Amino acid sequence: MELKIYKDKQEVAERFSAYFSELVKGKTEVHVALSGGSTPKIVFDVLASDYGDNIDWNKIHFYWGDERCVPPTDDQSNYKMTVDHLFSKIPVPERNIHRILGEADPIGEAMRYANLLEINLDRIEGVPQFDLVILGMGDDGHTASIFPHEIELWNTQDHCVVATHPDSGQKRVSINGKVINTAKEVAFLVTGAGKAEKVKAILEKTEGFEAYPASLVNPRSGKVVWFIDAAATAKLD
Ligand code: 6PG
Repeated sequence: MELKIYKDKQEVAERFSAYFSELVKGKTEVHVALSGGSTPKIVFDVLASDYGDNIDWNKIHFYWGDERCVPPTDDQSNYKMTVDHLFSKIPVPERNIHRILGEADPIGEAMRYANLLEINLDRIEGVPQFDLVILGMGDDGHTASIFPHEIELWNTQDHCVVATHPDSGQKRVSINGKVINTAKEVAFLVTGAGKAEKVKAILEKTEGFEAYPASLVNPRSGKVVWFIDAAATAKLD
């Protein structure tokens, strides 16, 4: 695990974008799972503005680690957020965008998406392998859409699961821990003071830290990089 601490969200976005540009260089095809939420907005803006012209987007296939079960036009949609902040600014072919159909029946879509991953990606012991999974972490220690109150979803047989947001009850489709931990590389984008308590618990392995799904991210490749800002590390010893 590599911890890269930067002064603020902007620098996290800049440094992650440079890392992403390096990761895709020299590869003929890249399969990446995007995260949702608010941090990716600035990351995608920087990626598009600083690297829009010097990444060959034709070779990059975009998936999502999770999606809210809402139409793709809804402001809650991770797909819509990605269109607004990235796809609307770069020449990515439509065929390279593999969105989770938030408007579909969640259980059926979880099955469809798992099947899509199994067809499109190499598999390691039957588990689809992304080149890169980008993750965020919620203030409660969730990642993708695996929440503490449903932590049993982390290790299900199904590679995609239907999760429920603990506060809103919103349904979500999410990849599970097996897919996350099979990725060649995982990049955590964690910013803001609201994360500081859980970052401390997870990185310092304080009592009960295993209750937070983000603590279970431990790719078999060993390659997980935390791109984290000072506010989120404020409580570390
Ligand atoms: C989502 C995400 C979720 C997100 C975290 C952190 O769909 O909301 O995938 O796991 O990454 O909640 O979100 P922020 O970047 O907004 O803190």
